Amino acid sequence: MKRLMFKLGILCMSMMFYVCQATSNLHPVILVPGNGGNQLEARLTRGYKPSSLFCHWYPILKQKGGWFRQWFDPGVLLAPFTQCFADRMMLFYDKDLDDYRNAPGIETRVLHFGSTQSLLYLDPSLKRATAYMAPLVESLEEIGYVSGETLFGAPYDFRYGLAAEGHPSRVGSKFLLDLKDLVEKASRDNGGKPVIIVSHSLGGLFALQLLNKNPISWRKKYIKHFVALSTPWGGTVVQMVTFASGYTLGVPFVDPLLVREEQRTSESNTWLLPNAKVFGERKLVITPDATYSAHEITRFLNDIGFSRGVYPYTTRILPLMEQLIAPEVPITCIIGSDVRTPETLFYGENGFDEQPDVVYGDGDGTVNMASLLALEKLWAEEKHQPLKVIRIGGISHTSILQNDSALAEITGEIYSINSRVVSSVL
Ligand SMILES: *[C@@H]1O[C@H](CO)[C@@H](O)[C@H](O)[C@H]1NC(C)=O
Repeated sequence: MKRLMFKLGILCMSMMFYVCQATSNLHPVILVPGNGGNQLEARLTRGYKPSSLFCHWYPILKQKGGWFRQWFDPGVLLAPFTQCFADRMMLFYDKDLDDYRNAPGIETRVLHFGSTQSLLYLDPSLKRATAYMAPLVESLEEIGYVSGETLFGAPYDFRYGLAAEGHPSRVGSKFLLDLKDLVEKASRDNGGKPVIIVSHSLGGLFALQLLNKNPISWRKKYIKHFVALSTPWGGTVVQMVTFASGYTLGVPFVDPLLVREEQRTSESNTWLLPNAKVFGERKLVITPDATYSAHEITRFLNDIGFSRGVYPYTTRILPLMEQLIAPEVPITCIIGSDVRTPETLFYGENGFDEQPDVVYGDGDGTVNMASLLALEKLWAEEKHQPLKVIRIGGISHTSILQNDSALAEITGEIYSINSRVVSSVL
C-alpha cells in the first residue's frame, strides 16, 4: 500500500492537485493475451484414445482430478510426446453442431479468469524461458497498477475463435460474455471509471469483436481506451506456412509435420489466415503449378490437403474476418516494425510437406506490415474513430512484451491515457 501511495504521489505531482483527492486516478486495465498466451489445463476422460503407448502415461504427474498443464509443457518438445500433445490440442469441427469441440476424451480448462496469474508465465516453473506478460505487468505496477484492484487478466482457450452471425461458437462466445462481465466489474470496483483494454496479437481481434457486439452506449460507458499491441488485423502470411507445412516457432528439433494437423484444426488459426481486404491481389504462395492470393484461400486449403477446413472457413470465419468495423472508442495500435517477416512462400516439386523458400518483407517478424497497419487504411474515412499508431523499429511480435523501450512506450501511452481524463475535465 505504501508503495502504491508513493507511486500515486509521483503521478499526482504532474497533475492538478485537486484531481489527486480521488482515491486512485487510474482507469482499470484488462489484459487480453494472444494465441498461446496463457496457461491451459487438460485431463483425460474415458473416451481418450492414446495414439501411442507413451501417451498412456504422459504426463506421469497429474494434479487433483487428473488435471495437468497442457499449455505450455516443455516435455512435449521431446519427440514421442509431441504427438500426444498434438492429439490432445486438436479441435474437431462438428457439422451437426456447427461448432468446434475438443478431441474425444479430452477436457480442457482455463484457470484464474479475471486475474493476471495465468498469463504472466506459460509455465511458472520455468519463469525465464516462458515469461509472457510478466514484464508488462511489472511495468504497469511501476506506474501504480495493482493486480486484482486496477489490473486484471482475461485468459481464454485460444484454440477456439468466434464465428460469424448465425453460427454458434460456444467457447469463444462464452469468453466474450465473461470478458464483458469483467469489464463491468473492473469499472464498478473502481468508482465507475471506464476501463482500458490492453490486448496482444489475437487478443485484439477478440477485443474488437467485444466492442462491436455491444451497443455504443455500453462502449461509451465502460471503455476508456483500447490499446492493441501487435494485432494481426488482416491475418498473416505465416499462417499459410502453418496450414501448409506446420510451423514450430523456430524450435529446431520439433518436426513441423507432427504439429501441422493440430494447427490446421485450430479455429483461431483459421481466423488468422490472410484477409483479402488487407492483402488484396498479392500472390502469397507460389508453387510450380499455382499461385494463391488471399482471395484464394479456399483453393489453397483444398490443395494442401485440408479440404475439411473449407466449410467452416467459408461459412463461419470468412464473414467474420470481413467485419473490421470501427467501434468509435479511442484506439492506440502499438506495433513493432523493421523485422524480417515472411511475405511470399515458394513451394517446390516436393509439395507442401517441405518447408518453403521464403521471401521476407517488413513487419514484426510474424505479422506483415499491411496487417499491422490495416485499420489506418480501412478506417481512413471514419470520422468518429480516434486511431493512433505507435511504431517501434526493431521490435518483434513477442519482444514488444519483453523489451524495455517497448514496455516504456506501452506504459507511457497508458499513463497518458490516464492523464487525458484530467485535461478534458479541467
Ligand atoms: C530494445 O529494442 C531496441 C530497438 O528498438 C534495441 O535497441 C534495444 O537494444 C532493445 N533492448 C533490449 C534490452 O533488448
